[in-house]
Amino acid sequence: MPLLSFILKPNMSKQSNQNSSRETSSFPEASKDVLAHSEQLKKHIQDSIRKSDGKISFADYMNLALYTPGLGYYSAGLKKFGQQGDFITAPEISPLFSQCLAIQCIEIMQQTQQSVLLEVGAGSGVMAIELVLELERREQLPKQYLILELSAELRDRQQQAIKTRLPHLYDSFQWLDRLPEAPFSGIVLANELLDAMPVHMLKLTPEHSYERYVALDKDNNFIWQDEITDNPLVEDKIAEIKKLHQSLSDFTIKPEETYITEINLQAEHWIKSIADILDSGAILLIDYGYTAKEYYHPQRTMGTLMCHYQHHRHDDPFYLPGIQDITAHINFSSIAHAARQSGLDVAGFTTQAHFLMAGGLVELTQDLDPDDILHFTEVARQIKMLTLPEEMGELFKVLLLMKGKKLSLSAFQFQDFRQRL
Ligand SMILES: C[S@@+](CC[C@H](N)C(=O)[O-])C[C@H]1O[C@@H](n2cnc3c(N)ncnc32)[C@H](O)[C@@H]1O
Repeated sequence: MPLLSFILKPNMSKQSNQNSSRETSSFPEASKDVLAHSEQLKKHIQDSIRKSDGKISFADYMNLALYTPGLGYYSAGLKKFGQQGDFITAPEISPLFSQCLAIQCIEIMQQTQQSVLLEVGAGSGVMAIELVLELERREQLPKQYLILELSAELRDRQQQAIKTRLPHLYDSFQWLDRLPEAPFSGIVLANELLDAMPVHMLKLTPEHSYERYVALDKDNNFIWQDEITDNPLVEDKIAEIKKLHQSLSDFTIKPEETYITEINLQAEHWIKSIADILDSGAILLIDYGYTAKEYYHPQRTMGTLMCHYQHHRHDDPFYLPGIQDITAHINFSSIAHAARQSGLDVAGFTTQAHFLMAGGLVELTQDLDPDDILHFTEVARQIKMLTLPEEMGELFKVLLLMKGKKLSLSAFQFQDFRQRL
């Protein structure tokens, strides 16, 4: 029996295996050390707020909470990924994810003659390992595998993992401190990178549009402070969202309502930076998110900001800074727009399920032995998590950007939803 037909019922996924809660008081108790760590970061953020006349943008708060060297969530030594961490990502769920990416990389390499890969935000390093193993198995090793990782701690972890699992290929990896100099030709890969970039928060009411800043109350706790923005880029984005809302004829914010949402200026800026250095090649971005119309849908009145603490999901970004992940979904329309404006072609947009199904999953699993029950059911479980609509299959999207030669990739041939962007 082919494996894909064995998959009948939904199981667990990154999204659904987490308890969703607004109440942090029921969460597992943090140890003394962990609390002390968070307290240290809290003091650092409090100092920043005092030095900035009593308020910072939420993007600055999120940046400090996630990336303060030695203290931020991604920069300190906590276990973040996997069952013992706070959340699980696709390459951590199954090697099949990275193997499908490898197949798409081969298609790109064959069409462009480029054979340098650059992964940005490589987490534990597992995607790099499984992807390169698959390329090796198919005798298509790249000339180089570059990794750009913001967190020094994660970079160490990636180096250890690659040394252990791929000692014979370690020399083909190189870690960068910044994007390569122009002109760069190759393939850029990023899984769940953009959702980890700091966002600005907005609060729209019938009368006013505010940016949500972070300030301190009299006991030095973090609080929201809503003010007219002093940032022209945020102002422009507010105007865009209002225009979109006006185009939805039946949508007005009611007098008693507020509409909270976010914008990811850093992700757009990052796209522009990549476009600037890319001479020719492709960029594959995988992340959870929506098109603009879905993102700023009238009913999404609380935005998409989400925190992850030991597989509990909640919406309080001020809870234990440095100990929990903070993330927001991606507005893929704004990413595609930034890409086009920077001279990139938007060459494909599809769901993770369609990408994997069309991009190699069938081929990779066709020889699995159904009599090896344990392995067979484990692989089936992994595929369910990656592809079922109620798991990661639909919420996660894959965006293909390119410069230079036009590409045709098998992974976008089931469904390509570019017209929705
Ligand atoms: C949510 S994790 C995803 C990790 C990995 N890609 C995965 O799928 O398991 C986000 C990663 O992006 C890194 N990161 C965030 N912003 C970055 C930037 N501007 N440049 C490079 N890495 C960045 C973080 O340190 C972390 O490794």
